[in-house]
Amino acid sequence: MAQPPPDVSEDECLPEYRHRFCPDLLRDKVAFITGGGSGIGFRIAEIFMRHGCHTVIASRSLPRVSKAARKLAAATGQRCLPLSLDVRAVPAVTAAVDQALREFGKIDILVNCAAGNFLSPASALSFNAFKTVMDIDTLGTFNASRVLYEKFFRVSVPSAGAVASGRPLTARPLVFQDHGGVIVNITATLGTRGQVLQVHAGSAKAAVDAMTRHLAVEWGPQNVRVNSLAPGPISGTEGFRRLVGSQAGVGTKTLAIPLQRLGNKTEVAHSALFLASPLASYVTGAVLVVDGGAWLTFPNDLKLLADFASFSAKL
Ligand code: HXC
Ligand code: NAP
Repeated sequence: MAQPPPDVSEDECLPEYRHRFCPDLLRDKVAFITGGGSGIGFRIAEIFMRHGCHTVIASRSLPRVSKAARKLAAATGQRCLPLSLDVRAVPAVTAAVDQALREFGKIDILVNCAAGNFLSPASALSFNAFKTVMDIDTLGTFNASRVLYEKFFRVSVPSAGAVASGRPLTARPLVFQDHGGVIVNITATLGTRGQVLQVHAGSAKAAVDAMTRHLAVEWGPQNVRVNSLAPGPISGTEGFRRLVGSQAGVGTKTLAIPLQRLGNKTEVAHSALFLASPLASYVTGAVLVVDGGAWLTFPNDLKLLADFASFSAKL
């Protein structure tokens, strides 16, 4: 069985990297990655850049993305533009996309990786807490996708030849400028079986998977591919720390995963690279699950739910 590629747990670049894919797979492409300053998003940026891509990494904390961008550029020799935005704020998303387009002249790939999560029983979850996660994960994904589509991906400008023909617009064969684009939405399998303590994130990510299919259908004719990538438990990430990192029995749970181990960020990034690249040129509307088979077997911990509920009740 293939060994997993090496990884490091911090938000640092890999000390060594051996290419499995062609090193110029994304040469001169530009990727806009929300949540690209940390965890899985940081590694996706690094792996894309190691394959010739320039990146824009965007999240709320400018110091965080600026520090990450310096590391990424130094390790890969590619350009990385750090930008501050909250994916919930459409004007901020629009301003960031405008700035990225001024800097690079184009954006080929959007990775929606920004997200928020924590453990909470539904009965203790405030209305605003549920809304907050829906806003970041689901609306944030729509906001960035819609702005990118409008500003660049949409193929709507008839070529000079078509305009010069003088025929009425309806009678002309529309010859479009060749851009389109690729969207990769980072989701999760939580909603597939209904994971305890995760009604907010599970609902938000399930909605994004549905959005993936809707947008793939509507935007396919514009040469925009839209796919979801659903990681399982990934080591060295804030998401994993928040969900299971501090719990006893993590080892036993890991053994419940068919591949008997956690995934790492590089493995997720390689799958994102595949989806974003021309290797996936006929793949759209799909959910690529990258979880070692975990969603098929991972136990639902009803005792943890009971513990949480009694703890919450004491608050
Ligand atoms: C219950 C909580 C809570 C918690 C916040 N809230 N933390 N409720 N348990 N631990 C409630 C607050 O009380 C408030 O409700 C509402 O949520 C909004 O909180 P704010 O702090 O004002 O929100 P905000 O500043 O926007 O921060 C969003 C956040 C935060 C999600 C709460 O944790 C964050 O910024 N997270 C980003 C990093 C992150 O989560 N990374 C992990 C992604 S992993 P009230 O009612 O009091 O106003 C991931 C994994 C998915 O997504 C799948 C894994 C398998
Ligand atoms: P992470 O490091 O906390 O990544 C989340 C990123 O989103 C952060 O960089 C954060 O930066 C940014 N962000 C949060 N709220 C934002 C907002 N409102 N606007 C803009 N940016 C925002 O966590 P991770 O574990 O690597 O998770 C990355 C992705 O993988 C998420 O989509 C998550 O749901 C998914 N996932 C993770 C796992 C796992 O095991 N880790 C499993 C399944 C799915 P700022 O704080 O600077 O804004």
